[in-house]
Amino acid sequence: MGTKKIVVFTGAGISAESGLGTFRDSDGLWEKYSIEEVCTHQAWLRNPQLCVDFYNARRRDTLAAEPNAAHRAITRLQQAYPSLEIVTQNIDNLHERAGSRNITHLHGEITKLRSERDELATVDLDGWEQHYGDRHPDGSLLRPYIVFFGEGVPYFSKACEIASTADIFIVIGTSLAVYPAASLLQYVPESARVYVIDPGNIDLSGYPQAVHIRKKASEGVPELVDKLIAEG
Ligand code: APR
Repeated sequence: MGTKKIVVFTGAGISAESGLGTFRDSDGLWEKYSIEEVCTHQAWLRNPQLCVDFYNARRRDTLAAEPNAAHRAITRLQQAYPSLEIVTQNIDNLHERAGSRNITHLHGEITKLRSERDELATVDLDGWEQHYGDRHPDGSLLRPYIVFFGEGVPYFSKACEIASTADIFIVIGTSLAVYPAASLLQYVPESARVYVIDPGNIDLSGYPQAVHIRKKASEGVPELVDKLIAEG
């Protein structure tokens, strides 16, 4: 049983090989859709049906996708290091479906809806389709349980607390382009080992201790997990 505290911080790149699009790669979601039309509070007020349709499509894709070797490797790592915690920017449920636990979603969860009135009053949604107009038990309209751009990130301080306890911090598949999530690395102790698994170019100039493993998640994550499990 490993006693070190491992924290895993993931972004869209870990789910890319499960067939779910990233946001800022050349074929990314924000190349096809306008953030202003589907992922801001103003967008929700202006055209809620368009937002509902956008997230219904992403929910349908998520339910049709399967966890990949990277998600499964993290579950193996958590079995070897039981105090492992996951902080994800992803709204998909592939970490959960790979058997991982202790997962903090910074930007919401596609499988849930929330009250328009209370950002943390969520309900589970069966199936892929939200019907705009359905109401939360508190009487307000239901909306996707997604943190839109410009909205607060309710679990960010919890994530900072988790990051500050890391002996080993593993970053997988994020461009570190969106704040405050990207600033999580600043809360990692200087004494911690930091690994970044991403085939792309990531600006790690602020984190000299980071080891950049330039591989896709499904290859790089299992390799690192095997190494850390062997280390014990
Ligand atoms: N394996 C690992 N990393 C990959 C892979 C792969 N197979 N394919 C792409 N990547 C990397 C890219 O190189 C990039 O660094 O994944 C990252 C994806 O970056 P983004 O598309 O910006 O996704 P992310 O960092 O998760 O975006 C953060 O932005 O739009 C908001 O709320 C949304 O949570 C999201 C946030």
